[in-house]
Amino acid sequence: MLRFELRSGCYLRLFEESDAEELERVIAASRAYLAEWLDWANAEGTEEWLAFIRRTRDKVAANDGFCAAIIDGDAIVGWVGFDRIDWDSRSTSIGYWLARDRQGRGIMTEAVAALTGYAFDAWKLNRVERRIEVGNQRSAAIAHRLGFREEGTLRRRERPGDSVKDIAVYSMLAQEWDGSALSNNSAR
Ligand SMILES: CC(C)(COP(=O)(O)OP(=O)(O)OC[C@H]1O[C@@H](n2cnc3c(N)ncnc32)[C@H](O)[C@@H]1OP(=O)(O)O)[C@@H](O)C(=O)NCCC(=O)NCCS
Repeated sequence: MLRFELRSGCYLRLFEESDAEELERVIAASRAYLAEWLDWANAEGTEEWLAFIRRTRDKVAANDGFCAAIIDGDAIVGWVGFDRIDWDSRSTSIGYWLARDRQGRGIMTEAVAALTGYAFDAWKLNRVERRIEVGNQRSAAIAHRLGFREEGTLRRRERPGDSVKDIAVYSMLAQEWDGSALSNNSAR
């Protein structure tokens, strides 16, 4: 996948090492808002994001999924990516964030739909999972909008940085997925 157009006018592409500085800037600008839900958002510095980008490229090389930048115009406004692929159980999970001022346009719903469809179509996986902190209503709304089923809650799950959170688990199975919502998209 070199470039995947979204109807919202944005597109997805893989990160390049040259994105590190811009990533640092956009995350710094959204840090307080992102850190409410994402532990990693307190990481700082271009070197940090360069290392992140290299890890995303390593994942592609290792056939362990990918992380895509979300581009609006020529600006990075978020990312959507696979955490890892469990080839034994043919399952994966997806994570994402969007700059605060790009919310409310359906960008992430469409981006998550794109990756979910890709997991089923290109890799023939059976299950795509979303883990969402209880109370993150905007993120849960994406899962609901796309028809993911809520399976239950991992109670008081400990996370890095001493945080303890209740995490709702949502899933979509290949046989449940209706990819027709993507019919106007084209990968190129
Ligand atoms: C989670 C997050 C990506 C959700 O962003 P979002 O803008 O609400 O999600 P979408 O881009 O899918 O947009 C949905 C909104 O656009 C509206 N919308 C407009 N056109 C739309 C379309 N064609 N399709 C779907 N929704 C559309 C929806 O009604 C909804 O708005 P509403 O909440 O006012 O009802 C964002 O809040 C975020 O990055 N938060 C911080 C990080 C985070 O929580 N990450 C997830 C951790 S689990």
